[in-house]
Amino acid sequence: MSCERPRMRGPACRITKEGRAMHRSWSTLRARVFPDHWSLLFGQIAFYSFVVILLSGVVLTVFYEPSADHVVYDGPYAPLHGVPMSRALDSTMAITFEVRGGLLMRQVHHWATLIMMAAITLHLLRLFFTAGFRRPRRLNWLVVFGLLVVTLGAGLTGTSLPDDMASGTSLAVLDGVLQATPFIGSELSALLFGGPFPGDVIAWFYPLHVVVLPAVLVALFVIGAVLALKHKPAQPAGPGRTEDTVVGRPAIVAAVKSFGLFCFVTAVSLLMAATATINPVWLYGPADPANASAGVGPAWYLAFLDGSLRLAPGWEFVWWGRTFSLAVLLPVAACTLFLALVAVYPFLEERLTGDRRDHHLLERPRDNPTRTGIGVAGITFYGVLWAAAGADTMAVFFQLSVNSLLHVFQVLLILGPPAAFVITRRLCTGLQERNAGIVQHGIETGQVIRLPDGGYVEKHRPVDAVRRWQLIGASGENRAIPPTSDVKHDGAA
Ligand code: HEM
Repeated sequence: MSCERPRMRGPACRITKEGRAMHRSWSTLRARVFPDHWSLLFGQIAFYSFVVILLSGVVLTVFYEPSADHVVYDGPYAPLHGVPMSRALDSTMAITFEVRGGLLMRQVHHWATLIMMAAITLHLLRLFFTAGFRRPRRLNWLVVFGLLVVTLGAGLTGTSLPDDMASGTSLAVLDGVLQATPFIGSELSALLFGGPFPGDVIAWFYPLHVVVLPAVLVALFVIGAVLALKHKPAQPAGPGRTEDTVVGRPAIVAAVKSFGLFCFVTAVSLLMAATATINPVWLYGPADPANASAGVGPAWYLAFLDGSLRLAPGWEFVWWGRTFSLAVLLPVAACTLFLALVAVYPFLEERLTGDRRDHHLLERPRDNPTRTGIGVAGITFYGVLWAAAGADTMAVFFQLSVNSLLHVFQVLLILGPPAAFVITRRLCTGLQERNAGIVQHGIETGQVIRLPDGGYVEKHRPVDAVRRWQLIGASGENRAIPPTSDVKHDGAA
């Protein structure tokens, strides 16, 4: 490409070229249209809650002491006076009761974590049920899946930092799982905890939590944004929207709206932090592996892992002089397989259906009953594991036997997903047929007219273009059911 100023040579000429390239990408961005649909906002909500987490995390880092050394508490919270605890918990207590706005920062950090996890989960579900993962967006799916897994890691390491009873209990479970790994269990546990449990896990988790995992998250968000801008935006089907024509807002309007969303996410996190207590470490007291309470459970986003451990039968066998505990291996294998299937689903679907085309129009869940059935089966599997994590609390609340409740969950875990698949598939097909019928025969008007031969028919109004899109979407035409003789369009009777 030639330089704008022909007599100029060397770096100045290169600057001109780079400047023109920047100008071109800026113009392309300004000319871009961004689809406007509520279901497309989850990714942005995840990013904005991450910004809130980063900002509050930096404030917490100033006062938090990542040390397992023991001190005796002598702060303003009287019920814990004289109780030995780690410096980590002592500094968390100081952030809570002595640093101005400290409790607010802790709670903002924690609530924003929950919002981020929920937003990423909903984003992934939205991508799945609308087929937003098909070519050319298969990598986007992996990026969002990566965000989910890394945020789970950040949540786990973060909740371990205060070193209170709740952190200690989840670390004890983690230690049990590691120890049960055949052949290298003890070594793995010693590596993570820096010696025999509970070791000095904070020294490990702290840099992971405040530097490594946030850096990976930043990288994933950047890759996600670059990929999203590289391709034409995916949009829900609707009037005027085709694989080539995008309907939406200009970049500047979308940017202003997005800034509004950032303010909203920040305001909601602050409001929740100011009004609802979360992780009251002063009530839990210091971590003590010998003294875990039954009521202590993991954060909701880690509950499915805990539930899987509770549902596994206590089978074990001895091989090569070693004991293999299926009570741990089975749930670890099941959860790993479940997550692996989620990660590779777009590639599996492409292979099985042979659909390698690029898609820029999103589908509705009912447009693909098999995929939607698989999705609901997956949610049922996850949901049963999730609910099983609260089996002890449910048993106490409803005065039931915890063992009977676990047996019910075991049965549900096996029978629930296939049943959910069949029911969902049938529902989707039924919805498709009903909608195709309305498009075919028109909308009922309630006016019944008598025919010359003495028969009666109801008058039907034709469906307009917008309603037609709403009813059968982009791919519905092929599935229209044949007309029946008892109904006719308006005027055709
Ligand atoms: C997505 C990324 C992150 C997630 C999901 C996350 C999550 C959490 C959670 C759930 C806690 C426990 C809060 C509580 O006490 O109730 C925590 C603690 C903490 N986080 Fe993060 N965090 C993230 C990033 C960061 C970053 C980037 C920093 C620092 C720059 C940071 C610094 C801290 C500190 C110092 C604590 C201990 C203080 C305390 O618990 O009060 N976090 N984090």
